[in-house]
Amino acid sequence: MTLREALQYAEEQLRAGSHPVRARLDAEALLLHLTGKNRAWLLTHAADPFGGCTATQYAALLQRRLTGEPIQYITGTCEFYGLPFHVTRDVLIPRPETEHLVEKALELARNMGAPGLDSETWESTQPPGAPSMESAAGGRHGWETTSSSTSKRAPSLARTLGQGWETNTLGSWSGSILDIGTGSGAIAIALAHHLPHARVTATDVSPAALSIARENAERNHVAERIRFLPGDLLAPVASDHFDLIVSNPPYVAEADLPTLDPEVRDFEPHAALFAGPDGLAVYSRLIPAAFAALVPGGWLLLEIGYGQSESVPALCAAAGFHRITTTPDLQGIPRVVAAAHP
Ligand SMILES: C[S@@+](CC[C@H](N)C(=O)[O-])C[C@H]1O[C@@H](n2cnc3c(N)ncnc32)[C@H](O)[C@@H]1O
Repeated sequence: MTLREALQYAEEQLRAGSHPVRARLDAEALLLHLTGKNRAWLLTHAADPFGGCTATQYAALLQRRLTGEPIQYITGTCEFYGLPFHVTRDVLIPRPETEHLVEKALELARNMGAPGLDSETWESTQPPGAPSMESAAGGRHGWETTSSSTSKRAPSLARTLGQGWETNTLGSWSGSILDIGTGSGAIAIALAHHLPHARVTATDVSPAALSIARENAERNHVAERIRFLPGDLLAPVASDHFDLIVSNPPYVAEADLPTLDPEVRDFEPHAALFAGPDGLAVYSRLIPAAFAALVPGGWLLLEIGYGQSESVPALCAAAGFHRITTTPDLQGIPRVVAAAHP
């Protein structure tokens, strides 16, 4: 058997499974993982003989995939916000939808990082097509007047205009961020990567997840700038205050267990998925605790699930947050709730 034939066989087997459109990609991903090669190598060695021990190992990987195990757990890797992450079954596989939360956080940090700018100056420093100052933060807010600690750290107008938009107003923001339920560290690490002066704390109730998150922080060269703390929600940071709190907490209703995609239900950690009978059990504790831990003018960003675009904003309003908005994902489903501390 040649390498091409082995790939062809794997693809045919996978095509009969639950994700036929990914059959070719998955067959290749397994082979590349096994051989440690890249696609260019695969193309130029397609006629090479394929057998023996490698073929046996490939068959074993294929079998795992055929039983529904996500490809990311088999290869141990995935990409989030353009960065590489190691994943095991101790952590949720970071989702593309969660990148919207990172986007929103960077948008807010960008706005917080230029407190001296009025709308006119803001527009003039934006690249074509960038959001207006109003829409970038859900409207002009009084960050500079309500958070003295942040305004002291903000760049001067001269530096902002002199060094350019992307690297300065975003890169120089030195606020504090808390990521609750960090899992693989995806959100915390992406933010630390793009905000090199921010101080980032990440908590998770699962020590196994935190150890993966630490490893990922090392891999992405941000380990020195992230504190990883084990514990329930904000308990590990009880006396601290933050400019920005972000979280993609468990939000699936236990009642939805039978309807979940088997790849999720049977392989991903249930502690990362389920939040009580209605999916709101974690939000209802997290939101008031986050309100108490934010500086005045600070922001809470939460990922939400399908059907939670009214209940989660209502919990935020009840806790005292204002200027509550939701942002849809690429499918138009409300995905990120932003709420400001007055
Ligand atoms: C949906 S996963 C999100 C992981 C990661 N933030 C991401 O977006 O890929 C939720 C995470 O919250 C953690 N978690 C669940 N309950 C928690 C709690 N009470 N306190 C802290 N973390 C919790 C889980 O261990 C899991 O890692």
